[in-house]
Amino acid sequence: MKTMISSIDINNIDMKEIKKQAKLLSEGNTVIFPTETVYGLGANALDENAVKKIYEAKGRPSDNPLIVHIYEKKEVYDLANDVSENAEIVMGKFWPGPITIILNKKDIVPNTTSGGLDTVAIRMPSHKIAREIIKQAGVPIAAPSANISGRPSPTKANHVKEEMEGRVGGIVLGGDSNFGLESTVLDLTGKIPMILRPGSITKEDLEEILGKVDLDPSLAKKEDNKKAKAPGMKYTHYSPDADVFIVSGESVNVINKVNELTELNHKNGLNTGVMCLEKNKCKYMAKVISLGETLEEVASNLFDALREMDKLNIDIIYCEEFETTGLGQAIMNRLLKSAGYKIIKA
Ligand code: TXA
Ligand code: MG
Repeated sequence: MKTMISSIDINNIDMKEIKKQAKLLSEGNTVIFPTETVYGLGANALDENAVKKIYEAKGRPSDNPLIVHIYEKKEVYDLANDVSENAEIVMGKFWPGPITIILNKKDIVPNTTSGGLDTVAIRMPSHKIAREIIKQAGVPIAAPSANISGRPSPTKANHVKEEMEGRVGGIVLGGDSNFGLESTVLDLTGKIPMILRPGSITKEDLEEILGKVDLDPSLAKKEDNKKAKAPGMKYTHYSPDADVFIVSGESVNVINKVNELTELNHKNGLNTGVMCLEKNKCKYMAKVISLGETLEEVASNLFDALREMDKLNIDIIYCEEFETTGLGQAIMNRLLKSAGYKIIKA
């Protein structure tokens, strides 16, 4: 498939290019575009045939529902029934932005979009390019992360160009994502709001405005993962070609353990990589990629680091462990999936 590629500067948006790409969407084609979380692979959410092209391009299982992206809040009432008080509070506080809400769907949303569920996931992104594209397309846009199913989500223009050119109708290259992790997914169909996928808007942030908020308990352990309430959380995800391990313990012990394992791997002819905080990067003997100094930086660098390790032909990646409060919750969720829940205690 010939892919139409547009490079767009977020600070000086070329509306001619936006309109060309939006036209592809309104004609039932797929277009990849940047959002503030990760790049999305979009198609008209109300057109079953268009949505099928998303599943094909990603190689995604058809029971894994898609997030519907809207331009303005009033579209929610066309897509969902029972828009609750809690939904109003979340939309009022965090939209446009990196949170997706799950509500009961109206019939207008095809089963192909909702993965056969009676509910629909909706998000209003804040990224200027994403917003222009959705507005010009004139329809709600279903958009999963724009990676081949199972791979780390794309956060930079080169990720989508390398992985998806030829698989979609259009690609809008628009710089780096701001947050680097996918949106928080919040189920508002039950009595107590439940986070099905942690993200940059944290449990703590949500509890401030909603009171008690649960986190889907099946996310914590590998054995429970098949019970995850967001179908997408059941599958292998964020996997580079290399084998990933999280190393947990006191910092000095982690460093010693990783260096010990690196030496052993070296003897066995295996290339070793380490992903760590900036302050520790000189302490490891393996090929190191620094994830930054703060949790915000770690979130924004994580998926790129996993992809870079593949480019360096690394066989085994050791990653430092992070706290599981605040943004650390989302980071550890992605890391655990990426590592297939393999943790080495140092
Ligand atoms: O930040 C994001 O959310 C990005 C950008 C492109 O907006 N999109 C994204 O979509 O991450 P995707 O498809 O990669 O992840 C959507 C997650 C999946 O785990 C899916 O199973 C879950 O949301 N989901 C979607 N609709 C759902 C529903 N009705 N009920 C439960 N989970 C749902
Ligand atoms: Mg995804």
